[in-house]
Amino acid sequence: MSDFDFTALHSALEEISHQGRSALLPALHAAQEIYGYLPQAVAAEIGRILDVPLADIYGVIDFYSMFYRDAVGKTVIQVCGDPACGLAGSDVLLESVCRHLGIAPNEISADGRYTVERAPCLGLCEHAPAVLVGNRAVGSARPDDVDGWLAGNGDIPHGLVYGSQRRLTVNCGKQRQTSLKEYLAGGGYSALKKALQLPAEAVIAEVKASGLVGRGGAAFPTGLKWEGASNAVGQPKYIVCNADESEPGTFKDRVLMEEDPQRIIEGLVIGGYAIGAHQGYIFVRGEYPAAYRGFEQALEEARQGGYIGSDILGSGYAFEVELRRGAGAYICGEETALFEAIEGKRGFPRVKPPFPTTHGLFGKPTVINNVETLCNVPYVILNGAAEYRLLGTAKSPGTKLFCVSGDVARPGVYEVPFGVTLRHLLEEQAGGVPDGYALQTVLFGGAAGAFATPAQLDVRMTFEDLRLAGLPLGSGVVMVFDERRDLRDVLRRLARFFAHESCGKCYPCQLGTQRQLEILERVSHGETLADDVERLTDVGWTMSDASLCGLGQTAASAVLSAMQLWPALFEPIKENY
Ligand SMILES: Cc1cc2nc3c(=O)[nH]c(=O)nc-3n(C[C@H](O)[C@H](O)[C@H](O)COP(=O)(O)O)c2cc1C
Ligand code: SF4
Ligand code: FES
Repeated sequence: MSDFDFTALHSALEEISHQGRSALLPALHAAQEIYGYLPQAVAAEIGRILDVPLADIYGVIDFYSMFYRDAVGKTVIQVCGDPACGLAGSDVLLESVCRHLGIAPNEISADGRYTVERAPCLGLCEHAPAVLVGNRAVGSARPDDVDGWLAGNGDIPHGLVYGSQRRLTVNCGKQRQTSLKEYLAGGGYSALKKALQLPAEAVIAEVKASGLVGRGGAAFPTGLKWEGASNAVGQPKYIVCNADESEPGTFKDRVLMEEDPQRIIEGLVIGGYAIGAHQGYIFVRGEYPAAYRGFEQALEEARQGGYIGSDILGSGYAFEVELRRGAGAYICGEETALFEAIEGKRGFPRVKPPFPTTHGLFGKPTVINNVETLCNVPYVILNGAAEYRLLGTAKSPGTKLFCVSGDVARPGVYEVPFGVTLRHLLEEQAGGVPDGYALQTVLFGGAAGAFATPAQLDVRMTFEDLRLAGLPLGSGVVMVFDERRDLRDVLRRLARFFAHESCGKCYPCQLGTQRQLEILERVSHGETLADDVERLTDVGWTMSDASLCGLGQTAASAVLSAMQLWPALFEPIKENY
């Protein structure tokens, strides 16, 4: 007989257990909230209820970094160690928290209250250095005030939102969630009303005509994706909102979610109607507790208002939305890995084809769209494709959100029309590099992006111009480094991120990300070996060419770009250098 009292677990699982294995991540979250971690007896009980073998449950627990098989402190403190926070002193911060609590990373404090971990990017880069204290985010955390911010003082990292022509972020910047009432007052849900009076094909035609392409990184035309799922044979169909934003340097979706969730829900319901789905999912990364709570409230409001449910606005159209929470795995942002996570499995990407439009969630036709993509949809439907195209260029219509962080006067989310230059964004909008230092470089697109030099500042930011300049737009990251920064350290942090986040399904990435990290650790410590450059190049191209999914295919992108731009960085550093 087990020592554990399962009463609370049984009542937490009562409403979800009929979903079977698909309820596994929610069940593990619920259990961890009750017991603090996931001991064997609890895992076995969940397995019994959901009919999942214990070995599979362990596989899932071990895959996600926010699930714990062994006891941890009551509150887990996650200190970001990725580049934007690294610039802002996150190593000193981590050291000082550990010293303050008298523990090493991953240990439990003597009073059992805390465990400290170094975390990958927390999506709070504009508030670096960033920390998550349990479910509470802290920005600009000071190493000399650990007690203060542990006690709840300190900068609450709300969105910092700027931009001259704001369509997607009109309701953002208030530093709080926009209520349904406020959203309606600004014309919210008029697009859904309009869409429900149109044939589904007309909705898809409008989105196609708008030229909207996905903002999640792959830049796939949204209307085409919707058409594919609409034409696909098979029922039911699903639409999924990818809110797993985890690419280092990216925080735009967090701001949209925290401040204007109704816009995302409206885009999702319109998409569902267009493709003939009656069930949607929103998958929010585990490290965004505020966004998750905000969605819970927003979905309830939308349900009460009749914008989701069994007969939306009296149209006869039925659509439900289920909110899911990730558990700490960057790879779950990859669309097929995200489906696996919703299905209660480890987030291993699937081999494509077949593509999600025909074989997606639960093997059924599925559309998956990024948060920012969905936020464009109400505007397109309400105002029409022609008006949508008034901003941006013919090949890159509309506006784009950029995540500006690092050595810049005003970090934040910037909404600008496609076609403005990087110089305009950095110097005129974001106030340039502060304190009189010169710009060294910009990490553009994300951890999987490339470095832009000061000579490239006049590049127009459109898909077509950036492609020519060799700069991937990625998730809209613009991370700025001034002349003082040691890029070897930045590269080491990026390599550490990929080595940590590789799911291990395919060898080129599983081994390549580890080798890349080892070499870049040597490089950053001034211990570069004679053939390290050759090895790094070889590992980089092998990963790019032979990896199964986008993570491995781009894990060397920034490193290869740095090697081309600054070969001297990779030369062995002499002792008296
Ligand atoms: C490793 C990896 C991580 C990804 N992370 C995200 C993410 O956090 N959010 C996102 O929207 N797309 C992410 N993507 C892209 C998705 O696979 C997918 O293309 C996207 O959700 C489609 O939506 P869109 O067409 O609206 O861009 C990621 C892709 C890869 C390979
Ligand atoms: S490329 Fe990396 S992340 Fe993608 S499947 Fe292979 S090991 Fe996993
Ligand atoms: S929150 Fe630290 S790099 Fe993004």
